[in-house]
Amino acid sequence: MHEPKTYFIRTYGCQMNELDTEIMAGGLQKKGLTPAADEESADLLIFNTCSIRDLAERKVMGKLGRMGRAHKRHQIIGVTGCMAMAKKESLFRKFPHLDFVIGTNNITDLGPVLDEVLYTNKQIVKTDDRFEENLDYLVAQRDNKIKAFVSIIRGCDKFCTYCVVPYTRGSEVSRPPASIVEECQKLVDAGYKEITLLGQNVNSYGKDQPEWNCLFHDLLYQLDKIPGMERIRFMTSHPIDITRELMEAIRDLPSLCEFVHFPIQAGSSRILKKMHRIYTKEQYLEKVDMLRAIVPDVSLGTDIIVGFPTETEAEFQETCDVLKQIRYSLAFIFAYSPRKGTPAMRWKDDIPEEVKLDRLQRLTAIQDEISNEERARMLGNTYEVLVERFNKDGKMLKGRTRCWKKVIFEGEESLIGSVQKIKVHSFSHETLIGERVGKRQQLLTLSNSI
Ligand code: SAH
Ligand code: SF4
Ligand code: F3S
Repeated sequence: MHEPKTYFIRTYGCQMNELDTEIMAGGLQKKGLTPAADEESADLLIFNTCSIRDLAERKVMGKLGRMGRAHKRHQIIGVTGCMAMAKKESLFRKFPHLDFVIGTNNITDLGPVLDEVLYTNKQIVKTDDRFEENLDYLVAQRDNKIKAFVSIIRGCDKFCTYCVVPYTRGSEVSRPPASIVEECQKLVDAGYKEITLLGQNVNSYGKDQPEWNCLFHDLLYQLDKIPGMERIRFMTSHPIDITRELMEAIRDLPSLCEFVHFPIQAGSSRILKKMHRIYTKEQYLEKVDMLRAIVPDVSLGTDIIVGFPTETEAEFQETCDVLKQIRYSLAFIFAYSPRKGTPAMRWKDDIPEEVKLDRLQRLTAIQDEISNEERARMLGNTYEVLVERFNKDGKMLKGRTRCWKKVIFEGEESLIGSVQKIKVHSFSHETLIGERVGKRQQLLTLSNSI
């Protein structure tokens, strides 16, 4: 095996994995490696994996199996991320061609692990249970030059009974506020227009460090003060920790976008209790009412799991009713997938796959109708759109409103990175189509003066 010169990282899973990939890429570039064009030609190939549902794991396992058969001796192959934490060294038994396994709390060890692999020619595993706050976030190599993810808290202490994350990401560790402010300041100075604060539960921020005296909303007030900060978003929040102070921050801070991912998971209080979500349907609805009273134009997103063990048709109907009542602008709907090591494994996965699929389709149809109605209501209105890039067709520009709606419109490349006022005139599927308000006015003035 020789010293790798190029790398390729394949990322699965959520935004936290995307950011970890950017940090690993930065570390590798600092070591002198350059990005490879594809998996095959890379000297170092890393799979940054996800374990959230069975399908997420199966995708990588299938790939690793196929690669084993065609393994090129010169290539170094490693697995990082949540599946690395869930499976640890057992991955070596299944895939003897793997060179290393690095868990979510050890990405700083990537350099030394690579050296060890080269030096000893042995398989190396590093999967600490706890995250030590020594990660150099500032090395992150971001492809996107307008929007950036910034980690504020790692891990999760909620232990929902279906979820692997508390085991794959460990307990909550908040990042010092000064370090977050420094990174955000640098990003704004470098021209970034939108920062998404990341954590499995961002509104637990600071609770593990009471001496900092800085909870999530306090951090938001600090970040909003950064001169030139255009937009702040956050992902994701647990309903129990969404406080009045956070709601007021959304109302009062100019840069904080009016979109809250507010995942209910299920509409029946019995199922919520079994999921250990620590709120009832009624408590959840009360919170949504409070948020809408404080921020009337807020948009809400949610995650839902259908077919949780013992979920009856009537309980599923409660979830349908909640969707119709709340009218989320975005819903991610999943079929329950039993995960090894989670408390829900002690219950039989008793809802047949076809019933889960049927519930998933029925709920998706309800949400599609709501989303369409909501888009129809936006017609004729003007929204602030942060212009991100050309749309896939290469002709129209693409951006998002503060409430996370995708908008396309005609315009020049020079508008990328700016905020434009766009009047929406139609929509196709999930995309709103509009035109620049300024441009129309300019044309009108021009034609009047001729
Ligand atoms: N911290 C986030 C969730 C991250 S996981 C939160 O609490 O909102 C993203 C979503 O995956 C969860 O909200 C849940 O809806 C879904 N999910 C998690 N475990 C699952 C499982 N075992 N089966 C199906 N969906 C699951
Ligand atoms: Fe998983 Fe629940 Fe933590 Fe979200 S809050 S990451 S669903 S344990
Ligand atoms: Fe997957 Fe881990 Fe994210 S399990 S969803 S990559 S936290």
